[in-house]
Amino acid sequence: MRSNFRRSDLDAVIELLKQDDPMLTNGPKVSEFEAEWSKWLDVKYSVFVNSGSSANLLSLSVLKLHHPEGGEVIVPPLGWVSDVAAVLQTGFTPIFADINPSTLAMDTEKILQKINKNTRAVVLTHVQGFNGLTDQLLSELERLNIPLIEDVCESHGAKHQGKKLGGFGWISNFSFYYAHHISSIEGGMICTNDETTYQQLRMLRSHGMVRESTDMDIQLKYKNQHPDLNPDFIFAFPSYNVRNTEIGAILGRCQLSILDEIVEKRTKNFERFLKNIDPGRYRTNFLLEGSSNYAFNLILKEPDDELVQRLMNKMRLNEIEFRRGSAGGGNQARQPYLKNLIDPSVVCELKETDHIHFYGFYIGNYPDLQGAEIDEICSILNAA
Ligand SMILES: Cc1ncc(COP(=O)(O)O)c(C=O)c1O
Repeated sequence: MRSNFRRSDLDAVIELLKQDDPMLTNGPKVSEFEAEWSKWLDVKYSVFVNSGSSANLLSLSVLKLHHPEGGEVIVPPLGWVSDVAAVLQTGFTPIFADINPSTLAMDTEKILQKINKNTRAVVLTHVQGFNGLTDQLLSELERLNIPLIEDVCESHGAKHQGKKLGGFGWISNFSFYYAHHISSIEGGMICTNDETTYQQLRMLRSHGMVRESTDMDIQLKYKNQHPDLNPDFIFAFPSYNVRNTEIGAILGRCQLSILDEIVEKRTKNFERFLKNIDPGRYRTNFLLEGSSNYAFNLILKEPDDELVQRLMNKMRLNEIEFRRGSAGGGNQARQPYLKNLIDPSVVCELKETDHIHFYGFYIGNYPDLQGAEIDEICSILNAA
């Protein structure tokens, strides 16, 4: 990423700071950003939090309210640590399903094979701008009454059947961290169409406090049940403080106004990258319909350890920044935080993920990357 922020975004923050005694923490700008985001995504409710990881954590925390006994949650092996960490932190068991190489998201068939009577939810990450949904997955989850949590942290504006991702699941999560499609410095959004879930999320975001609910019936119920408590300080759940600030909301709102434009530019960049990259050596057969690219995926067609070394040398020499393993440390099942928590044989099942882990790279894509720069990157990669 060169820079997420425009001068005008920063000036909007300065306008707030020029006021006498401005409100800086979670306040009216946050509510406005949430309303605008809900409209953009076409969902009923959004809750602005301090990171995408917090969005993951609160989503699983709501699931835990429904399932205090715990159970299994199907999670992606390729994505980001917080999808798996949130499952562990809330006392569920992560179950990995291998990815589909054309979308990098968990493969529908492999998800369905993992479902059993202990399955409490599926967390589907839309990886790096690709649409990970299929009609079959949506209809099977509905039939089996298993909630879907969509992690859209890397795929703002991507679509399935013409409708934006994040509007399909019971809950969806977005990140506004630096280099994501839009940024609020740090930040995340949790979205849902379910009113009860929305009220729970509002309380969970802020220490589990009942006064954070906008539903007066909920407030009244707790007040009547607990006459011995100060009504302003009733804590319904042992929770966290993952609120964001007015500064984050101002930046988020400014950036949201150009998000559709950003999606278009990132998509064009990726198309140019795919057109120029050598299809004899690198994969180009991704499912592009509805995608909103996050990064150039450089994935070797075949395992080739020597080519990997040559590529890394070339990229370092030419100052092309890259992440080996593609996203977030590659195959999560190989990470030490899972040692003793999952059966080591799980790694062997994740063959497609392992291919990305060893033979995949993530190279930055951003709106002001110029066509000539993309051509230059491709010719360097093709000559490795
Ligand atoms: C798929 C996915 N989920 C969650 C996150 C966490 O977001 P954040 O960095 O805002 O905590 C990221 C971050 O990059 C991500 O890529």
